[in-house]
Amino acid sequence: MHPVLSIENLSVAFRGADAEIAAIRRVSLDVAAGECVAVVGESGCGKTQLCLAVMGLLPANAAIGGSIRFDGREILAAPRAQMNALRGARLAMIFQDPQSALTPHLTIGTQMAEVLVLHRKLRWREAEADALAMLRRVRVPDAARRMRQYPHELSGGMRQRVMIGMSLLCEPDLVLADEPTTALDVTIQAQVIAVLREMRQEFRTGIVLVSHDLSVVAGLADRVYVMYAGCIVESAAAADLFGHARHPYTSALMSCVPRISGPVPPRLATLPGQPPNPAERVAGCAFAPRCAFTSERCTRAPPPLRPLEGSTMVACHHPLPR
Ligand SMILES: Nc1ncnc2c1ncn2[C@@H]1O[C@H](COP(=O)(O)OP(=O)(O)OP(=O)(O)O)[C@@H](O)[C@H]1O
Ligand SMILES: [Mg+2]
Repeated sequence: MHPVLSIENLSVAFRGADAEIAAIRRVSLDVAAGECVAVVGESGCGKTQLCLAVMGLLPANAAIGGSIRFDGREILAAPRAQMNALRGARLAMIFQDPQSALTPHLTIGTQMAEVLVLHRKLRWREAEADALAMLRRVRVPDAARRMRQYPHELSGGMRQRVMIGMSLLCEPDLVLADEPTTALDVTIQAQVIAVLREMRQEFRTGIVLVSHDLSVVAGLADRVYVMYAGCIVESAAAADLFGHARHPYTSALMSCVPRISGPVPPRLATLPGQPPNPAERVAGCAFAPRCAFTSERCTRAPPPLRPLEGSTMVACHHPLPR
């Protein structure tokens, strides 16, 4: 069986006034049906652009290369009509900014029902009933009244839950969840994670989970990809990654010295130093200036992504011992 999402050598660059900004550099990533894959990394490393590339929603100044296959079919240069049919139905994104995904002048009930009428060909009554059921499922309190309200009448956390409900309405094959729980308090967060877990089990929905919250990642992800400066620097099964980070960046990010066991740190650590300017070309490893293990070789040649033991792939000349 082919993966639901298969990204190969994806590159995204933005044409600026006087320079080209490389946001994603030759990224490859797979998601199997029903699998949850997390993408983690510092702000600006390319997580959102990766999701937008899959959705076909990159801005006009983006140059894109490589391949993105959805359910075995190339969608990277797919015609607009084909992408419109996929988006919202089989392919959905939970946006980092819930404001951007809701239509301000339509009530919550209307915009949710419209999705079902359009993609599922339901009658209006049925669509409204399904929309209401979904609002209840994502734990929107007083859901019947919320159906008649406009986005601006809801709190940020409520809007986020509405958006999550909207993205799951058509039981998509793949959900790209970009920081889906950031605006939510801990109890609601746990409920939203539970809904995503249900979707995987019931509908075999594949999930790409972008999150700064390692407890969310540990609770949901089967595999994790670590991005740095637009590249994948490490990927592994979640248990391997949390148990034995092999890239010095992953280790620093999780602020964990390699150890046998122990609780997962709750949030990604903030690292000293800055990632490289995406408009500049780096000769060697992009992490070298901030790395404690840098050798002469690191500044000369970029390390390729290669397999280590178990499920781990790492792009480092001096991976940490297991
Ligand atoms: N329209 C654009 N034009 C030029 N550069 C852009 C544009 N959109 C994004 N970028 C750049 O692309 C890079 C990746 O951005 P992206 O939004 O994917 O980061 P991110 O990993 O999602 O960060 P965060 O954790 O803060 O959400 C950044 O350097 C950003 O400045
Ligand atoms: Mg982002």
